[in-house]
Amino acid sequence: MRGALPGALLLVALTGAWAPALADEDAIQLRDGSWRDLTAARCAICHSLDYIPGNAPVLDRVGWQKVIQKMRDRFGAPITDEEAQEILDYLAGSYAAKP
Ligand code: HEC
Repeated sequence: MRGALPGALLLVALTGAWAPALADEDAIQLRDGSWRDLTAARCAICHSLDYIPGNAPVLDRVGWQKVIQKMRDRFGAPITDEEAQEILDYLAGSYAAKP
């Protein structure tokens, strides 16, 4: 175990890719970008941040907008209008299937 995790993290840092070994909850690190910390803080309240890279291949900007709206409307996510816009910019910029 010792030595394995830093290697995996380095791989992620170098490639920006998600290694399956990092599916571990504590190891989820979102890609760099403006509003990353805000997104991580808000979106991890109820579930794993894994949902973000997991859904990225099928979501574009409009898709992410609907997801954020659903999290707020249906599940009561504590996200303000301004934060929703910032989170959307981050997700559309760093995790959208197409721009
Ligand atoms: C108030 C709790 C809560 C917050 C905060 C929250 N979610 Fe969710 N999310 C849920 C629930 C409940 C589900 C559906 C049940 C499940 O699959 O766990 C879900 C499911 C999802 C899904 C799976 C697809 C879908 O539409 O069901 C995605 C993607 C997702 N959330 C993204 C996000 C993102 C991005 C954020 C931050 C903007 C966020 N969530 C914040 C509660 C929340």
